[in-house]
Amino acid sequence: MLHINDNYLKLQASYLFADIAHRISVFQQKHPERELIRMGIGDVTNPLPQACITAFHKAVDEMGAAATFRGYGPEQGYEFLRQAIAEHDFQSRGADIDAGEIFISDGAKCDTGNIQELFAQGARIAVPDPVYPVYVDTNVMAGRTGVWAQGRYQGLIYLDCTAANGYVPELPAEKADLIYLCFPNNPTGATVSREQLGLWVDYAHKHQALILFDAAYEAFIRDERLPHTIYEIPGAREVAIEFRSFSKSAGFTGTRCAYTVVPRDCRAWDAAGREQSLHGLWNRRHSTKFNGVSYPVQRAAEAVYSREGQAQCRALIDGYLENARLIGEALDELGYQHVGGSNSPYIWVACGRDSWEFFDLLLTHAGVVCTPGAGFGRCGEGYVRLSAFNSGENVQKAMERLAGAARMLKA
Ligand code: MLT
Repeated sequence: MLHINDNYLKLQASYLFADIAHRISVFQQKHPERELIRMGIGDVTNPLPQACITAFHKAVDEMGAAATFRGYGPEQGYEFLRQAIAEHDFQSRGADIDAGEIFISDGAKCDTGNIQELFAQGARIAVPDPVYPVYVDTNVMAGRTGVWAQGRYQGLIYLDCTAANGYVPELPAEKADLIYLCFPNNPTGATVSREQLGLWVDYAHKHQALILFDAAYEAFIRDERLPHTIYEIPGAREVAIEFRSFSKSAGFTGTRCAYTVVPRDCRAWDAAGREQSLHGLWNRRHSTKFNGVSYPVQRAAEAVYSREGQAQCRALIDGYLENARLIGEALDELGYQHVGGSNSPYIWVACGRDSWEFFDLLLTHAGVVCTPGAGFGRCGEGYVRLSAFNSGENVQKAMERLAGAARMLKA
């Protein structure tokens, strides 16, 4: 008899965003005349920057000519892209990262989900609450948790992120081996200061732990006092892996390109207590299970770092940040407490009632889709997340509808 991986049975019925998509489709079947405004999943709406499109077309043409055609590329990514990333995203900020430490992939979701494969079954995992569900679910699938009980998986260390701590987790009292952090945060939009991040780097050194730092929303940072990468913090190279993505910074959600930084001196230990290189292990995994991102996509990503590309990406993000500002202003007028939105595309709103109930009411009475906070964890109950990824026109309309439905939405 073939047995399944029973750990899958511990998972909640479906992935959060799949669940929301299903509810929307049921609603639309019942109300085909209703026009919905989607502020749920953080999916970009603007087209790719022109610099990327030009590079993309040129690379496709190269693939069509015998002299310039390319077959398999390096699994880790082409040197031209790894070099551009190392220079622009790290060295220009004084962070000591070289091209050989960058692994190109097709998504930060996959990388943050796959990284746990490198670690022992017994590794103690700490996750923020609320949290991007991928960090949790992939550890559940791998069997590192107990069952789901009272809104949490047994065996995980949950780090509460609440209004009281500014949505930045405090160091755990017990010892964690692997710590997932995400800043600017999904879902709360919170940011972390150099000092706060420094405390985590010190913790990781003290406890021989590793930080998995998801910086997928880095491009939204406008407050220059904030760190753009964990490698701006002294000592981070030995204790942190960082994940980045072109999805939100350059509109690549449908194009797929991201990267993970594993410094050569990033360390963990084998069962015999010998130090092992995570760079070597991730390289082994990547080259065994992945065949690289397509050449045209990597050329399009490289164009992000050209002068025009940089200006066009900045304009894209400025547009989304302006949406976030408008959302914040509308929420203020309606008397909702909220955070995020100034260095992040997400606004975390205290909705004053059960978050799935608010989701349903907002959908029904305003035709606006949000993400219920409870889907991100127990601390997300009573909150919803609004995404600023939309056109300015739609955001304006959504806020008018929110105001129109205000009475129905109040508990
Ligand atoms: C989100 O809405 O949280 C993101 O779109 C999820 C993702 O990037 O996978």
